[in-house]
Amino acid sequence: MRAARRSRSPAPVTTTLPDVTTSSAAQTEDLGRIWGKRLRSGDVVRLKGELGAGKTTFVRGVAQGTGSSAPVASPTFQLVRIYPGRVQLAHVDLYRVENSAELADLGLEDLATRGAVVVEWGERLDVDGAALIEFEHLGGDRRRIRTIRDLSH
Ligand SMILES: Nc1ncnc2c1ncn2[C@@H]1O[C@H](COP(=O)(O)OP(=O)(O)O)[C@@H](O)[C@H]1O
Ligand SMILES: [Mg+2]
Repeated sequence: MRAARRSRSPAPVTTTLPDVTTSSAAQTEDLGRIWGKRLRSGDVVRLKGELGAGKTTFVRGVAQGTGSSAPVASPTFQLVRIYPGRVQLAHVDLYRVENSAELADLGLEDLATRGAVVVEWGERLDVDGAALIEFEHLGGDRRRIRTIRDLSH
């Protein structure tokens, strides 16, 4: 009983350790919120991980951390969504981007001059100084979230 109750409302994640395992979507959002609070204009954060690994869930927290109250949805069919906040957050999803011409059309550099940028399937990007976070599905509600490369500040 107690274990079941704990798993329904796990304690908030408060750490930014480079290797975290979350056991609920809410915990992954918590971690995203911590990252969002750190973000400054010009930051690019690349997210790597299979479908369902928790990237969009994480971005939901990131948006809150940047002070946005906009609803975060998967931009799979839109490529870019903009969330205004303390810093503007551009939420990019490269899942359906097939070639370098489409990548260039996204105007990532321009987005980064206007605010922070978080990119799902972002390992495809080679941006100087960009952070990289890897999401791994461990089964059930468990996800391993590793900071491969942190922000430079
Ligand atoms: N620990 C967890 N972290 C993130 N998402 C989780 C977790 N446990 C369960 N989920 C669920 O897994 C799904 C993750 O989907 P999503 O964030 O869209 O992944 P992605 O963007 O990587 O495809 C959501 O339905 C979410 O509620
Ligand atoms: Mg997604």
